[in-house]
Amino acid sequence: MTDEASVADASADGDVAAVASSSTDMSNLVLGDLTVDRGGRPVVHDVSLEVPPGEITTLLGPNGAGKSSLAAAIAGLARVRSGSVSLGGNDITSWRPERVRHAGVSVVPEGRRLLTDLTVADNMRVATYSLDEEAAEDGIAYTRSLFPELERRWDSFGRLLSGGEQQMVVLAQALVSRPKVLVVDELSLGLAPIVVKRLTPVLAEVADSGVAVLLIEQFAQVALAMATKAYVLEGGRIRYDGSATELINQPDVLHSAYLLQD
Ligand SMILES: Nc1ncnc2c1ncn2[C@@H]1O[C@H](COP(=O)(O)OP(=O)(O)OP(=O)(O)O)[C@@H](O)[C@H]1O
Ligand SMILES: [Mg+2]
Repeated sequence: MTDEASVADASADGDVAAVASSSTDMSNLVLGDLTVDRGGRPVVHDVSLEVPPGEITTLLGPNGAGKSSLAAAIAGLARVRSGSVSLGGNDITSWRPERVRHAGVSVVPEGRRLLTDLTVADNMRVATYSLDEEAAEDGIAYTRSLFPELERRWDSFGRLLSGGEQQMVVLAQALVSRPKVLVVDELSLGLAPIVVKRLTPVLAEVADSGVAVLLIEQFAQVALAMATKAYVLEGGRIRYDGSATELINQPDVLHSAYLLQD
């Protein structure tokens, strides 16, 4: 396992950001034989996967498979027992969450909500607090272009927004720093299919612009339609690793892992 202190000594945040922006390949997120602990026991075992820039990769798996634990490990929020997380060849295993974010990896945890007693504008201000003025302005303009319907909601309190609009703000908060990697844990949870349909083209646009997108979902349909590569996690282990299109044609895998909705 990586010694966090030695990594911290070896490279300052700024160095990594500079290296990582030098080429699109440098935004490749790679997990190597990753084992993640939750509550003191391993719940994700030896998982290797790659999230390349410019496309959507999906991680599917039934309830309790370990998907959110994996996302938490990428974000620096869960303990990595062994294996590695790397970004563009730089080892970022066990980095503190804010350092992971600063290196360009933005993770939307499962069930993330906006602050409903604040306006959309204030929610976005919260998300840009660590950016300098120019980066914040640029990021806000970018997210407004991705979600033009938020424009008329800008001064509304979060609690007055629809579920879909709230999810847009959450995505906008994750994208405002213009990350190299975007990890979204259960985008579609609790949202009507029509709302999900509005959000998916935005993720496709984000991927097209060169971002490495990892979409974590419990159910397969929406994610597989968008993704290039797919992984299925079951009992903390990778059960399928291949093209999304090929997985669509393997209903036995999808059925036995409870990845199809009625
Ligand atoms: N904070 C925690 N403390 C202890 N155990 C946990 C914790 N979080 C998750 N677990 C356990 O880790 C395992 C994996 O859970 P995880 O939430 O990662 O799965 P998941 O694939 O995201 O499931 P879901 O589809 O329900 O979101 C489960 O057995 C769960 O009970
Ligand atoms: Mg989960």
